Amino acid sequence: MTAQLIDGNALSRQLRTEVATQCAQLKARGITPGLAVVLVGDNPASQVYVRNKVKACAEAGLHSVLENYDATLSEAALLARVEALNRDPQIHGILVQLPLPAHIDAQKIIEAIAPAKDVDGFHVASAGALMTGMPGFWPCTPFGCMKMLESIGYSLKGKHAVVIGRSNIVGKPMALMLLAQSATVTICHSATADLKAMTLQADVIVAAVGKRNVLTADMVKPGAVVIDVGMNRDTQGKLCGDVDFEGVRQVANYITPVPGGVGPMTITMLLVNTLAAAQASI
Ligand code: GUN
Repeated sequence: MTAQLIDGNALSRQLRTEVATQCAQLKARGITPGLAVVLVGDNPASQVYVRNKVKACAEAGLHSVLENYDATLSEAALLARVEALNRDPQIHGILVQLPLPAHIDAQKIIEAIAPAKDVDGFHVASAGALMTGMPGFWPCTPFGCMKMLESIGYSLKGKHAVVIGRSNIVGKPMALMLLAQSATVTICHSATADLKAMTLQADVIVAAVGKRNVLTADMVKPGAVVIDVGMNRDTQGKLCGDVDFEGVRQVANYITPVPGGVGPMTITMLLVNTLAAAQASI
């Protein structure tokens, strides 16, 4: 039996329709949710990402501004822009696209964003809120993964979830979200001694490493749910994830494809967070 796909495009369409409806209701009350997207430099991948974010805002009825600065912009000037956006009543969410040029301290910039506008969920206040179960913005990619699990009616209580990757953006917040749903969570990373021994025990596997074929069929317990956060290119230049999709789909019960899986969900959750920021501003 081959795994059922968890379709990130279909789920995104549904959630974005809900965002659009709620956005229209807010607008009727005189508030248009607004997102500021700040890009420094001309990294081609970042340019594609920010364009997609701005386009998604427009489609759901959110106001957005894209500020694209030269790669030579100083850290002080970027801090001043963030502080101005913090004070701007039209802007409810601020996203500074990463990576930033090497002369800018990215964490310093993130900490300058007002936590109430931190729709990326990268501020230490947001991370602390997630860790302690307090209200706050959740990072969009792991939040999207949780929505995908919710969409198949999957109960995490008592399940063993294995997260491969320990980044601040995906791996660590993903583990905390799974833990909050009472899963038993293992975080694996580049120094994990025997990855296969870990993943073979897993009911749920989230692969978030950024490397092809990190997870192959022999590493997956029959019936597992596999979420693929990776965005890589195969030898033919085709987009692929971290998971050997063709192999693993023969073993798993559910699997997310790449493209059309987690990718669209990340932008969808950015819209959800920005809407929530606008609602909280009333
Ligand atoms: N770079 C890659 N992914 C992201 C993201 O989700 N947010 C920001 N700000 N930068 C990124």
